[in-house]
Amino acid sequence: MFSNDNLCSLRWDPVSRAVEIIDQTLLPHTLRWCHLDSPAAFCHAISSMQVRGAPLIGITAAFGLAHALAEDASTENLERATAALLATRPTAVNLRWALQLVAGTVRELEPARRAEAALDKALALRGEDIANCARIGEHGLQLLRALQVEGTLNIMTHCNAGWLATIEWGTALAPVYKAFAAGIPVHVWVSETRPRNQGMNLTAWELQRAGVPCTIVADNSCGQLMREGLVDCVMVGSDRTAANGDVCNKVGTYLKALAARANNVPFYVALPKSTIDWSCASGALIPIEERDAAEILTIVGMDAAGEVREVNLAAPGSRALNPAFDITPAQLVSALVTEHGSFAASADGLAHLKMTK
Ligand code: MRU
Repeated sequence: MFSNDNLCSLRWDPVSRAVEIIDQTLLPHTLRWCHLDSPAAFCHAISSMQVRGAPLIGITAAFGLAHALAEDASTENLERATAALLATRPTAVNLRWALQLVAGTVRELEPARRAEAALDKALALRGEDIANCARIGEHGLQLLRALQVEGTLNIMTHCNAGWLATIEWGTALAPVYKAFAAGIPVHVWVSETRPRNQGMNLTAWELQRAGVPCTIVADNSCGQLMREGLVDCVMVGSDRTAANGDVCNKVGTYLKALAARANNVPFYVALPKSTIDWSCASGALIPIEERDAAEILTIVGMDAAGEVREVNLAAPGSRALNPAFDITPAQLVSALVTEHGSFAASADGLAHLKMTK
C-alpha cells in the first residue's frame, strides 16, 4: 500500500469530471489543490511547474488533451491542442510520449467519440504509471539489498523523483519507500537542487511526511559526503534517456555521477520505459531547457512572520545563465532501474529493455 496518507499528485473526480493537481510551486509552505478547468490551465500548470517531473508532465498533458477534445473534438483542435501542450516544456520526453499515445488513440475515431476515448487513455496512463513506479520500487529494492550495508543505508538523491513527480511512489524514491516499508534503516541525503530547490522543497517534504529520515545538504557538498564514505549509493530519476544510455536529468546530476565514480559509489537511475527516447542516439541530441535567469537571481521563502516572499540574491544588473538539465554519460551509470528490471546503461542494455512487453 502507498504510504503517503494516500496523497497523490493528480486526481480525477469521476462525479464532477474534474482534474485536480497539487500546486507544487507553493510547496513546502502551502498544500493547495488546483482545479484544471481549461486547455490553457493545463498548459499553464506544466509550463509554470505547478506540475513537474517527467512522468507527471506526460500524464497531465494526456488529461489536458482529453479536456481540449471535450470542448471541441475536431481534427483541427486535436492538432492545435497537441501542439500547444507539446510546447510547454522541451526536455522531458514523457510529454511527447503521452501526447502521441492519446492523439494516436483518437485520431481515426469519429469526432463524437474522441473525448471519451482520450479520457479513458489518460486514466489508463495514470493507472499504468502507478503500477510501473511500484515495480521500479521493487527492482530498486533488490539493488539496495544487494549493497549489503550493515546499519543505516545512506542514499543520496537529487531534485525530486518521488510521488510528486509521478502519481504515486515516484521513480528514484520508490525503492526508498519500499526499503523503509520493509524495515531497512534508510537515510536520504537530499541535495537542495538549486536554483528551484526541488530537493529541499519537494523531496524533503515528501520524505518527512512519510517518516523517512532525511537530511538536506547543499548541492556543492555532495562530493565531500561521498569522499567521507557517508553515501552508499546515489539514486536519481531521468527526464529523457537516450538509446545509448546517456541520461538527461536535473542540472547537477552529472557532477554527482562524476563524484560517485571517483569514490566508488554506485550511481543508479530509476525511470519508466516511457522516459527512453529511442529516436535519440545519444545525450548530445537531447534538448536542454534554458529557464529564466530570475530563478537563479531570486529566491522564494517564508519569513519570520509566516509570509511567503521572493527576495533578490544578486547585485542589481547581474547576469545569470540557467540550463535546467544536464547529461550524464552512460559509462557513469551503474544501472538503469525500470519497471521491467535493471539494465546496463548501454545500447545493448537498452536493446534488451526495448524487447520487454
Ligand atoms: O524541472 P523538473 O522539476 O520537472 O525536473 C524534474 C527532474 O529532473 C526529475 O528528476 C525527473 O523528471 C525524474 S521524475 C520521476
